[in-house]
Amino acid sequence: MSQRNLEALDVGAIREAFPILQREFNGEQLVYLDNAATTQTPDPVIDAMSDYYREYNANVHRGIHHLSQEASIAYEEAHDRVAEFIGASGGREEIVFTKNTTEAENLVAYAWGLNELGPGDEIVLTEMEHHASLVTWQQIGKRTGAEVKYIRIDDDGRLDMDHAADLITDDTAMVSAVHVSNTLGTVNPVSDLVDIAHDHDALAFIDGAQAVPNRPVDVEAIDADFYAFSGHKMAGPTGIGVLYGKKAVLEAMQPYLYGGDMITKVTYEESTWNDLPWKFEAGTPQIAEAVGLVAAIDYLEDIGMDRIEAHEQELARYAYEQLGAEPDVEIYGPEPGPDRGGLVGFNLEGVHAHDLASIMNDHAVAIRAGDHCTQPLHDKLGVAASARASFYVYNTTAEIDELAVAIDNARQLFA
Ligand SMILES: Cc1ncc(COP(=O)(O)O)c(C=O)c1O
Repeated sequence: MSQRNLEALDVGAIREAFPILQREFNGEQLVYLDNAATTQTPDPVIDAMSDYYREYNANVHRGIHHLSQEASIAYEEAHDRVAEFIGASGGREEIVFTKNTTEAENLVAYAWGLNELGPGDEIVLTEMEHHASLVTWQQIGKRTGAEVKYIRIDDDGRLDMDHAADLITDDTAMVSAVHVSNTLGTVNPVSDLVDIAHDHDALAFIDGAQAVPNRPVDVEAIDADFYAFSGHKMAGPTGIGVLYGKKAVLEAMQPYLYGGDMITKVTYEESTWNDLPWKFEAGTPQIAEAVGLVAAIDYLEDIGMDRIEAHEQELARYAYEQLGAEPDVEIYGPEPGPDRGGLVGFNLEGVHAHDLASIMNDHAVAIRAGDHCTQPLHDKLGVAASARASFYVYNTTAEIDELAVAIDNARQLFA
């Protein structure tokens, strides 16, 4: 990735759109490097949600008054916009709004897994799954008798695709894999995994929580049956996530939540289900959040997803070089390159990751420390916790320099 690409992205102007980045703590300017957990929100998203509440707040699908009509149109069209953003040619019928990625995983696990799985079936995950997928399928396995298996990772933090080819068989009913690991930064070859799954008539679920915010994603090129992500990791609001599902697969599934809006006809004895995607969106949905998500997509596409990807890869490479130069810093995951996303998980020898994060916080540098919802992966790495710096469109190499200084402070303190 060339420096030219980095310069092409006007980070100074971008930062001005994010009011929170102006905050200072103890006289020091905030350095926000916890973007894999939640990204910050630009003015256009805040304004769009504020406009919604000021101008056309109403419940959707139920009213014939002006406000409800305007809210309904905005809410329904938000599905179309998301479909366009991720290349889902089936449009709104293939886009279900959920609370977050976790709920999207649970929706499929409950609505499909509980009904379709049984003893003799296998669910194949990867060793780098987030708990959102790992715990969910583990529990569905326990309830249905299906066995859960894990594709190994190699010493570089990449998936062992030979093992994947062995593990996925005609007994496999579901392959659920993370697109970009939130701990290792690995970008997995998800379309290859989906191909293997389909060769054995298994369905494939891809967790795109760390992919959609940071790179162009085309769900039809990947060919996944399901694909999920969260608004709050892509400059959008909390409280909204997306489940993409192929129309035929969603149509064959039972609803997950029951109640208002997801029905067509109800009697005291029976109910019939609404069309897609409303069949999976029971009750009053996230209307303001859907409006905010559209504004976030517009904002990101305006910058260009390929440029965002290039910017983050450059930052990851820079961080890798700055941090990795010291022998007492261990960085997890593959070396910088096309199969590494914009985050760096690491440990400083002799300093617990929580202490490290706390020292950084004293200097207004926000990183994450802990197991990042990948406890089994940390067990495999032989550590209880790791520190993670994760980047977004508004981060700079100067901020990574501050990260390196903060690490040096911790080094001195614990020496
Ligand atoms: C890879 C991955 N999957 C799933 C999730 C869960 O996202 P959410 O908390 O928005 O449901 C996260 C969040 O950190 C993640 O990084």
